Amino acid sequence: MSPVSHYLLVFISVLSLSRVTEAQTAPAIFYPFGSVAGDTVNIAVEDENSTLINLWSPFVFFGRMYNRTYVNNNGHLTFNQPSSQFISQYFPINGSEDIIAPLWTDIDVSMNGIISYQQYSNGSVLTRATQDIDQYFPGLNFTANWVLVATWDRVAYFYHSGTETSFQVVLISGSDLSFILINYGDCAVGYNVVQAGYDTINSTAYFKIPGSDNGSFTPNLKNSTNVNVPGRWAFRVEGGPDQNNLQENIIGIQMRVTSFSDLRESANIETVLEKLQQELIKYGLPNSVKLKLRRVQKTQP
Ligand SMILES: *[C@@H]1O[C@H](CO)[C@@H](O)[C@H](O)[C@H]1NC(C)=O
Ligand SMILES: *[C@@H]1O[C@H](CO)[C@@H](O)[C@H](O)[C@H]1NC(C)=O
Ligand SMILES: *[C@@H]1O[C@H](CO)[C@@H](O)[C@H](O)[C@H]1NC(C)=O
Ligand SMILES: *[C@@H]1O[C@H](CO)[C@@H](O)[C@H](O)[C@H]1NC(C)=O
Ligand SMILES: *[C@@H]1O[C@H](CO)[C@@H](O)[C@H](O)[C@H]1NC(C)=O
Ligand SMILES: *[C@@H]1O[C@H](CO)[C@@H](O)[C@H](O)[C@H]1NC(C)=O
Ligand SMILES: *[C@@H]1O[C@H](CO)[C@@H](O)[C@H](O)[C@H]1NC(C)=O
Ligand SMILES: *[C@@H]1O[C@H](CO)[C@@H](O)[C@H](O)[C@H]1NC(C)=O
Repeated sequence: MSPVSHYLLVFISVLSLSRVTEAQTAPAIFYPFGSVAGDTVNIAVEDENSTLINLWSPFVFFGRMYNRTYVNNNGHLTFNQPSSQFISQYFPINGSEDIIAPLWTDIDVSMNGIISYQQYSNGSVLTRATQDIDQYFPGLNFTANWVLVATWDRVAYFYHSGTETSFQVVLISGSDLSFILINYGDCAVGYNVVQAGYDTINSTAYFKIPGSDNGSFTPNLKNSTNVNVPGRWAFRVEGGPDQNNLQENIIGIQMRVTSFSDLRESANIETVLEKLQQELIKYGLPNSVKLKLRRVQKTQP
């Protein structure tokens, strides 16, 4: 094995060690929620949604500006219309709706649990959001001026009264930038189809949290992360022309391909790049980065 790939392996194993040891602190990552925080509570009926939420400040999601959203009981947010879809679809859907899905599955809040949300335009929640984003995305000098927190607190899965699953999504915006934080607490093994991440119209941008389409994996969401904070995922999502016109930055990656796939086929290249990108985002690569393959002539054996 060459020295380069040796170092890469060491780095990755250190990351997973720190995840395991910090796992029990995960609930502290939740932003304030519930009636104590003054949230609006969703109706406790299956497959329902919040009333129309008029956003105090527009939220730009991959180039589309939204002035409203719905918090849907089945674990997702949509913008143009509410969604009662309880059977999750796997990303990329290549569909006609933008969706942010902290945990899209069949949730039955008529059995147990509370779904609630709140917007903020001032105070300590904005300070906290500013600090979190400046930590995860240094160099932007970001200041949050609007936050929406939506929380699923100890909700039941459909037909499984007593199962308790807790998660939260935080939308953050300020000076033309948009971010999402997803926070996971204790999550029960999923009984129904599950999917977590986000997807856009025609899937021009999407991200699926690795492992999240496997119900047996759901309890591990509590110690999964892309920002080295167990249970938390952070994404920059305004997208649009700025992120597509990034200057070409080049980093070198050495990888060993262990199964045969003909890389003269462009579809195979796309698949390899997509898997590589999802893996790198897991370890902190900004999700706006586009990977390109460059042909390199091998001159030394
Ligand atoms: C769900 O959204 C629709 C469309 O805005 C609305 O008519 C309905 O009342 C909402 N459900 C609840 C419980 O507010
Ligand atoms: C959203 O609100 C902004 C002003 O706050 C307005 O300029 C824009 O047209 C609105 N967008 C939509 C889709 O309603
Ligand atoms: C903070 O925002 C709330 C609405 O969430 C508003 O009622 C309050 O007046 C604001 N306070 C200040 C100091 O701007
Ligand atoms: C960071 O932003 C603040 C206001 O949000 C501004 O006063 C300050 O000059 C900025 N600093 C840099 C280095 O851009
Ligand atoms: C999505 O794709 C369809 C067909 O490929 C196209 O007609 C439509 O304009 C696209 N929508 C957006 C928002 O790009
Ligand atoms: C979405 O579907 C269209 C055809 O309807 C196809 O051309 C495009 O490549 C698909 N995009 C993705 C991301 O699958
Ligand atoms: C589903 O997740 C469980 C627990 O993490 C794991 O043991 C199993 O291999 C996964 N199944 C698939 C098909 O990935
Ligand atoms: C956290 O992840 C490790 C493996 O990475 C797993 O063994 C452990 O059970 C997980 N803990 C929880 C609470 O999901």
